[in-house]
Amino acid sequence: MKFTMQYGGGVLIALSMVMTACGGGGTPAPKGDPELGKAIYVQCSECHQPNENVEGPRHCGVVGRPAASIPDFEYSQAMRDSGLVWNEKTLDEFLTSPFTYVNGTKMGFAGLDNPKDRADVIAYLKQVSADPSICPQ
Ligand code: HEC
Repeated sequence: MKFTMQYGGGVLIALSMVMTACGGGGTPAPKGDPELGKAIYVQCSECHQPNENVEGPRHCGVVGRPAASIPDFEYSQAMRDSGLVWNEKTLDEFLTSPFTYVNGTKMGFAGLDNPKDRADVIAYLKQVSADPSICPQ
C-alpha cells in the first residue's frame, strides 16, 4: 500500500493504527488476563479439571492441540468430526456459543457472552498448561 504525504501525518497515524489492529488477520481480540480467567474458570470447573477427565475432557495443553484428542475421553461424534484445532481464535468462537459452533457437542454450557471473559479464560488455559505443578510436561 502506498501513501502520499498530501493526506497529512494524522491520517497516516490513524491508518497505521487501523492496520496494526487488523494485523495478523481476524478481529482484534481483547488481551486476556489469566488471573481474571481463573475466576471465570470456576464456571468450567463444574465439568473440567486441568489435568483430569471429569464430565468434560482435561484441559492441559488444550491451546494448540486438535479437538477431541484426549484418547481416554469419550467425545461426541460432532466434536470428533469437527476437524478443529484449538487456538485463541477457535476457542473464542467455540466459547461464544458451543452449541452453534460445534453443532451436536455434548458440552452443556451456553457460552460466555463477554469477549473479555473469553480472552481471560483462554489466557488462563494457556497459563495452566505451562505450569508443571498443574500440568506435568
Ligand atoms: C456442563 C459441563 C461443562 C461445562 C460447564 C463446560 N464444559 Fe467444556 N466440555 C464439556 C464436555 C462434556 C465436553 C466434550 C464435548 C464433546 O465431546 O462434544 C467439553 C469440551 C470442551 C472443550 C474441547 C476439549 C477437547 O479436548 O477437544 C473445550 C476447549 C472446553 N470444553 C472448554 C470449556 C471452558 C473454557 C468452559 C468454561 C468457560 C467449559 N468448557 C465449560 C463439558 C462442560
